[in-house]
Amino acid sequence: MTFDLTEPVVPPATPVTDVPPVIEELLAPGEQEALTARIKTLLVEQDAVLVAHYYTSAALQKLAEETGGCVSDSLEMARFGHAARAKTLIVAGVRFMGETAKILNPEKRVLMPDLRAECSLDLSCPADAFSRFCDAHPDREVVVYANTSAAVKARADWMVTSSIAVKVVAHLHAQGRKLIWAPDRYLGDYVRKTTGADMLLWQGSCVVHEKFKAEGIRALTAQYADSAVLVHPESPASVIALADVVGSTTQLIRAAAELPQKTLIVATDNGIFHKMQLAAPGKTLLEAPTGGTGATCVSCAHCPWMAMNGLKGLLHVLETGANEISIDPAIGRRAVVSINRMLEFAGQAGISVAGMSGD
Ligand code: 13P
Ligand code: SF4
Repeated sequence: MTFDLTEPVVPPATPVTDVPPVIEELLAPGEQEALTARIKTLLVEQDAVLVAHYYTSAALQKLAEETGGCVSDSLEMARFGHAARAKTLIVAGVRFMGETAKILNPEKRVLMPDLRAECSLDLSCPADAFSRFCDAHPDREVVVYANTSAAVKARADWMVTSSIAVKVVAHLHAQGRKLIWAPDRYLGDYVRKTTGADMLLWQGSCVVHEKFKAEGIRALTAQYADSAVLVHPESPASVIALADVVGSTTQLIRAAAELPQKTLIVATDNGIFHKMQLAAPGKTLLEAPTGGTGATCVSCAHCPWMAMNGLKGLLHVLETGANEISIDPAIGRRAVVSINRMLEFAGQAGISVAGMSGD
């Protein structure tokens, strides 16, 4: 057997086998109101603000909005937390979101309702293996997705989120740079095809998005003639190929409001339906199929780690100060460089709050 030694070898991602089941928070009648009232009082008393992702429960999203916090995609979560005056940020999402908030705001206290809220992309990309891979390709600039640990961000030149990845990579490609991309192979493949950039892709994947199936989506579009397909770019290429719109969570919500079609087939976590339905009242939102009777997903269309965020956990951390995020200052000082590059780029590119214009 012969090997082409001019072809750079990408190490396999760390397999993520320990995916927990989705367990939604169950509340007794009246409990939600009681918890919400108590949390509202404590948020004020502790000068705290709630920063939530669209994939968290509707109860958490409503609470964030009613209390002057924000509900958004990863890019805007980072920007909102950075601009917020509050002394404490409560990040309802997954761990990398809390870590990004802390890296950007070392002087603020950052708490999370549940520290077990991981992300399969982050888990697939351990910092030491990734660093060795980067060392083997010193001629390449390192671009990592937000869904990574602080240590991986510290090894990167750029951090990007899904709302801005194509623009950043197109910019680097125009300057003739060759790139390493990690950890999501599907998003990386989409960005590579869209920009034509020379990218080596880490082989991680999202356990939720990789389960959407093109075949099932095709069957739905045949059933609903006046429909459009909205796809998050963490999905496989065969699913992205069927999309009318590919974008971050915020970009998909905006598209849902603007598209003329009355039925929308949505390939992303179904937590997004709360805000999407508010943005597109009167439209029918359908979950993109994850394989019909042949589904192999542990958590079809809902992230098990996002589901760990609940009102009880939120109240607990406000009452006890538990689940505080801390980052090694040396790692934080390096990681903030790659995050700030993206934020400055977003500012210069005119990508406004919530990614609503210029993108
Ligand atoms: P967004 O930045 O589009 O919100 O994506 C974050 C994420 O984890 C999607 O699975
Ligand atoms: Fe990570 Fe996928 Fe969950 Fe997003 S949906 S946090 S990419 S596991």
